[in-house]
Amino acid sequence: MRATARAQPNIALIKYWGKRDRDRNLPAVGSISLTLDDLYTTMDVELDGALDRDELRVNGRRAESMLPRVARCLDAVLGADRLCARVTSESNFPVAAGLASSASSFAALVVAASAAGGRARSVGELAGLAGRASGSAARSLYGGFVELRNENDGIAVSTILEGDAWPLRIVAAVTSQAPKPVSSGEAMEASRRTSPFYSRWVEEQGMDLSTARDAIAVRDFGKLASVAEHNCLKMHSVMWASRPPVVYWNAATLACLESVRALQAEGVAAFFTIDAGPQVKVICPPGDEPRVVDALSSTDGVEAVLASGIGSGAALVNGD
Ligand code: DP6
Repeated sequence: MRATARAQPNIALIKYWGKRDRDRNLPAVGSISLTLDDLYTTMDVELDGALDRDELRVNGRRAESMLPRVARCLDAVLGADRLCARVTSESNFPVAAGLASSASSFAALVVAASAAGGRARSVGELAGLAGRASGSAARSLYGGFVELRNENDGIAVSTILEGDAWPLRIVAAVTSQAPKPVSSGEAMEASRRTSPFYSRWVEEQGMDLSTARDAIAVRDFGKLASVAEHNCLKMHSVMWASRPPVVYWNAATLACLESVRALQAEGVAAFFTIDAGPQVKVICPPGDEPRVVDALSSTDGVEAVLASGIGSGAALVNGD
């Protein structure tokens, strides 16, 4: 009745932005991501008949605000008639820092909860359950380069290239640890309802996915860099053109983009991507990592720089 699982966050290169079914949290578009390795969340789930309510602790502290979302996810995995659970989550990176901690948390939660409840589930089923809690979490069930496709009535997720076949590095510049002004779910909805660019964004996603898929298949860094930066800036343009506008960037975010542009001008292989937050993630081959780390560390307003390789999907650490 107890199990522990570990999952890594993932960084989207071709972004999920928008939902086609809000009740089931199904994405409007497919996406492609990299699963990280050095950053992770460990989630322990203990089902206990003696509890009269669920309990959640995140990094040693009670986390009441996240509890309803965790409880809904447990209901989806185990059924609403389940025992109450003691859930303990530990991440080795700042959880509010916009580094996709909800992806690693929900991916680890579905794996741990299924095992604690004695449910045998395929990784595809677990991805579907994680995706209901948070769309990007579905991708953290898989390692390497991961594609999430919209299929009929659901999603289909798979590894399209193993990480060791193209061992790129991900360097994240943390520019602010303040909580997000608007959650990504709310911002997606604002984009769908009010942004004049939203429909075009959805229409063009198939083209970007296919370009990125081709680039990954032949390890073409320049082609992947170009489509990933373009896709990221399109997603933020959709948000900026919403009413009211959704702007996650700060001055340091922009300063990081200038640092990346300067590196590129000097011949360094590196490209940026930014999610629903002000942090900048830079992807580069291992040989260029020291230059990227130096450049981001010395950029005005950068509070911390974290680096990671590409890792594997969520897995059980132990359980009955
Ligand atoms: C910008 O997965 O956090 O990081 O499904 O509402 O929980 P919900 O959204 P979430 O959105 C992630 C958006 C993104 C892009 C991406 O990861 O693909």
